[in-house]
Amino acid sequence: MNVVLGVSGGIAAYKACELLRLLTESGHEVRVVPTRDALRFVGEPTWAALSHNPVTTEVFENVHEVPHVRIGQEADLVVVAPATADVLAKAAHGLAGDLLTNTLLTARCPVVFAPAMHTEMWEHPATRANVATLRERGALVIEPAVGRLTGTDTGPGRLPEPEEIFQICRRVLRGTPRDLAGRTVVVSAGGTREPLDPVRYLGNRSSGLQGYALARTAVARGAEVVLIAANVALPDPAGVKIVRVETARELRDAVLAASADADAVVMAAAVADFRPAETHDRKIKKTDAEPDPIHLVKNPDILAELGERRRAAGAATPRVIVGFAAETDDVLANGQAKLARKGCDLLVVNQVGADLAFGKPDNAATVLVAGGEPVEVPRGPKEDLADRVWDLVAARLG
Ligand code: CTP
Repeated sequence: MNVVLGVSGGIAAYKACELLRLLTESGHEVRVVPTRDALRFVGEPTWAALSHNPVTTEVFENVHEVPHVRIGQEADLVVVAPATADVLAKAAHGLAGDLLTNTLLTARCPVVFAPAMHTEMWEHPATRANVATLRERGALVIEPAVGRLTGTDTGPGRLPEPEEIFQICRRVLRGTPRDLAGRTVVVSAGGTREPLDPVRYLGNRSSGLQGYALARTAVARGAEVVLIAANVALPDPAGVKIVRVETARELRDAVLAASADADAVVMAAAVADFRPAETHDRKIKKTDAEPDPIHLVKNPDILAELGERRRAAGAATPRVIVGFAAETDDVLANGQAKLARKGCDLLVVNQVGADLAFGKPDNAATVLVAGGEPVEVPRGPKEDLADRVWDLVAARLG
């Protein structure tokens, strides 16, 4: 496919070299269109060598080829990474002073912006308004990551990792629908840990792969995503707000806070049903005596609480609540009972066993639908199951 990689003048321009490599190595024809200032950070020969294509910033070079019209018209995707405050402003206002802004005006394909700038610039009302305008017009503007910026300061404004921007490009090129644009969704992922003492905990084997796949696919479909990650050791998906938690009670607080004005909540995290009644301040030492038994107490059932709160408040938010469950037998009957008991709208019932386990890239499931027919999702990548879940969520959001 034809991809235009727009690069604007920010220090993160060097990361776009890696994005370019990922795009070309997956077989795409890439034209790099830098701004003049981008070339202060990474020079023209680098872009030309990595893309195997000529590189120009101006509309008055190679005029006979009418590049300012042709490049945009022929593109299947335009991705601008990094997108500075300046290029967002120009794109929002339709300015066309160089080849990149011309291309943005002539492109009729999906456009992805990956902004990177200082936090103050990202949070400035002018930038907020420009981003809102671009999103209203259908562009996918990825939220920047939070972390170390150019200097010693940290905050939102970092370019997400190239591999994660590439994953979004890949999904957009595959024609993922933009049906969650303007929606806020909360996804929990991973598995909780319940501390026994400063070095030990009760936990589970959840890797977070399914929850992260849900977060990634929701970003590509245009949603604002809050990802609540319990002990996950995976790269941060681009464009999500990540809240890190450890225990079930921390997860509960984070989920309830984020859900207050969310359109949908998906509880993919494996939550410990019990925790040790007592957490020792100091490491438990072994002695010659028999060890003390560990007494457990119940953790809050977060999914049930979400449903109960919605019912008690007579409120409509979150509009869609999705649970996950693992059943070995009587899948439909047990699943339907759980769906009703937990007051959720969709319940993704995993087929346990058959080589489908924690940490594996594949999954298969039956999605039970409140007031509707179950949907079978055959074995496939966790991202495919995630997309089927979002199809059902989007349908319920209307
Ligand atoms: N869940 C939760 N809070 C808990 C336990 C589970 O929110 N304390 C959520 C999980 O995130 C998941 C669903 O509820 O979405 C799983 O329900 P659960 O009752 O734990 O089902 P199973 O894991 O299948 O276990 P069981 O059949 O023993 O109830």
